Amino acid sequence: MPTVRDLHAKTGSEPITMLTAYDAPAAEVVDEAGVDVVLVGDSVGNTELGYETTLPVTVDEMASRVGAVSRATEDAMIVADMPFLSYGVDESESVANAGRMLKEEGAHAVKLESGPHTVDLTEKLVQLGIPVMAHLGLTPQHVNQYGGYPRQGTTQKAADRILELARDHEDAGAFSLVLEHVPSNLAADVTEELDVPTIGIGAGPHCDGQVLVFNDAVGLTEWSPSFSKQFGDVRGEMTAAVEDYVSAVEKREFPAEEHSHEETDLEDLY
Ligand code: KIV
Repeated sequence: MPTVRDLHAKTGSEPITMLTAYDAPAAEVVDEAGVDVVLVGDSVGNTELGYETTLPVTVDEMASRVGAVSRATEDAMIVADMPFLSYGVDESESVANAGRMLKEEGAHAVKLESGPHTVDLTEKLVQLGIPVMAHLGLTPQHVNQYGGYPRQGTTQKAADRILELARDHEDAGAFSLVLEHVPSNLAADVTEELDVPTIGIGAGPHCDGQVLVFNDAVGLTEWSPSFSKQFGDVRGEMTAAVEDYVSAVEKREFPAEEHSHEETDLEDLY
């Protein structure tokens, strides 16, 4: 599996690839396709658990998904996203929650939606041996403050603040930084400024790597953000397969002989 060192070695020469995955089948697909980093994102809340936002996602829900992904992944680095309020309130609770993802579930690192409140925590986790991926720009756990999911860093003051926080997290020991939904020139400046790799989503082409939500990338979601791209039509494929199944059962075409056990004289069973 790629380590923090491998990612740093790639930085600036080859783009880093990251995709989310939330279960074993998706993790297998992502891993076999050669993605460098699998992020078990708290976006599982909207994409798979039917929540409107990521806020209700619990540590237990994340732990179960991280375990499934890590059991199915052979080569990629696994990053566990820490859910809302599972970090940043109480230090020892934050350490225990993050540590659980590595100790019990097989993650190699955690991601924290970052701000001034995560600088010291990042340092603490890194000192303890828990690699931290920082996340700046649009941090969806702040949806109630934003009133939606608007682009961030669009004024000079806001852009300066993101750059400053990026430096602070690098100094605290973060091994990489996700930049979400920010102007591409700001992402370019942050990428230029930091030694650690930046991984962008809706942040333009200048980051050291790119990340997308798996369900958006494969075309499983009905709606995806404008900065995302559907590289397939899995929803269409699944719908067609299920419709074919329903029709085959209704027409008594399934199960056919090859899907059935040979008829057995019941007496032979005893
Ligand atoms: O939860 C998530 O999927 C994320 C990515 C969009 C970076 O945080």
